Amino acid sequence: MLSNEKSTDALDLSHHLSKVGKARHTSPLKGLQKYMGKPGLISLAGGLPNAAYFPFSSVSGEILAPDSFPLKTDSEESSLSWFWKLFSRSDKERTSTFTVGKYSKRPGDLDLENGLQYGLATGQPKLNEIIREFVGKVFQPAYKNWTTLVHTGNTDAWFKTVQTILNPGEGVIVSEWTYPSAMASAQPFGIIPVPVGMDSEGMSSISLRETLSEWDESARGMPRPHVMYTVPVGQNPTGTTMGIQRKKEIYDICVEYDIIIVEDDPYYFLQQGKYVPKSDRVAEPDTDDEVFIASLAPSYLKLDYQGRVIRLDTFSKTVCPGSRLGWFTCNPMFAERLERAAETSSQAPSGFTQIYVASLLLKWHYEGYIRWLKALRLQYKQRRDYFLDCFADEFHLKATLSTEGYTAGAHIYHASLKPKRSFVLLSEKDVAYSKPLFSFVPPSSGMFLWLELHLDDHPSFSSLGYKALEMKLWTEIADAGVLFAPGAMFFATPVEDDTPGYGHFRISFSNSTPEEMKTAVSTFSTVLRNFMKN
Ligand SMILES: Cc1ncc(COP(=O)(O)O)c(C=O)c1O
Repeated sequence: MLSNEKSTDALDLSHHLSKVGKARHTSPLKGLQKYMGKPGLISLAGGLPNAAYFPFSSVSGEILAPDSFPLKTDSEESSLSWFWKLFSRSDKERTSTFTVGKYSKRPGDLDLENGLQYGLATGQPKLNEIIREFVGKVFQPAYKNWTTLVHTGNTDAWFKTVQTILNPGEGVIVSEWTYPSAMASAQPFGIIPVPVGMDSEGMSSISLRETLSEWDESARGMPRPHVMYTVPVGQNPTGTTMGIQRKKEIYDICVEYDIIIVEDDPYYFLQQGKYVPKSDRVAEPDTDDEVFIASLAPSYLKLDYQGRVIRLDTFSKTVCPGSRLGWFTCNPMFAERLERAAETSSQAPSGFTQIYVASLLLKWHYEGYIRWLKALRLQYKQRRDYFLDCFADEFHLKATLSTEGYTAGAHIYHASLKPKRSFVLLSEKDVAYSKPLFSFVPPSSGMFLWLELHLDDHPSFSSLGYKALEMKLWTEIADAGVLFAPGAMFFATPVEDDTPGYGHFRISFSNSTPEEMKTAVSTFSTVLRNFMKN
């Protein structure tokens, strides 16, 4: 069957529910809410405060125009001029305002009477409508009865998912390098990460099949995992992006081994494509909305004809993290269980948040939001490019095709020291560069550069090992005033000093000024130069 025929509903996958997931009942009082919309009902059952006592008569906001950031890099501007625009806080911002009053003037309008009241865990109807339209158009799930459900950000969404589909003592399949907060959320519940090898597209389907087909329950001390946690775009920490072919291979394996895929995808709209060195870079043309959406690596939802994907979306990277708002897209059975989990914990995302984000999206409309996302993608691409240009200025970079490890298949840049300024002018080919000190694959999405340090060339490598040296260098860089994230924390299983590897840093390019980026790279170079000597 073609995955986009949408001829079927989701399979019954309720055997994946955990004991906790199965045991939840409708919160007794929330169960009464289905009567609430009934005309003429006099409800004396709930403990709802009267909206007259809400001290907010209205809330209003001033929002940027959706086309506030440009859609193309102008070749005229390919010097640094676009960059100053990118970072300067312009006082010529184009904005519009919205106001939401306590009582709605027209049926269906947002209002505070309902928006700030206790509500269903499914969230405010207007926001749900917007989200549903967006998912249908952008992610195009492959089965009929897909459902969306708001949540309070992907961190909480994953936490609720863990409780709903995983039992203590079970394993969860993850990439060998993975997002540590997700592991930290699951581990206290006795969930064990099961690392799978990676290559330049993220999780390797070959390694996944090996892990599953060779699973030995008694040797592993746990049953074969039935859940996968994955960050397929802007993989945190490595910055890789998984294309449709790899996703299809992994999805098919998950069908074969009956595995639920939890797709945590906060960087979906920050897909930046290949890094092109400054000297070869050309202006980026604008594309229309359809072409833009088609250019993004599709979500697992597009392949999911069985309803075995629980997709987590968040407004954290596209609107703001403080909104604490996002949504699940999954089959109705999981959505119903996740709704039960929300009812007795977060209840629903904050009413203020839902009003603000819904107002923003109502004002912008679908087209405006897509316009915003297109420009956002370009902003992060320019940041990524500038940051890597700083490395190219500071170090000698040589690209080779990697054939092994988590970089296999990618062009990997090896960075060696440039000679310190000399009065003799040397041409590139005359310069004897030192051995590479670190390597990296330019990230194709997301916010992070993942550096692989060649610590095995350090004089104390044999006595200290990789983890201790990584920490030593990290501390020296921090003492010099630049904070990176140490790599060991991103390994799916605990790292020891003798764990093979080169040491890593995860470095963000999302939130610093050009001067800070330049200074950080130059400080790193100075510290590293001394560090590798002793
Ligand atoms: C992979 C991944 N998942 C989840 C999150 C957190 O998302 P949220 O702000 O929606 O909780 C992050 C953000 O840092 C992330 O990198």
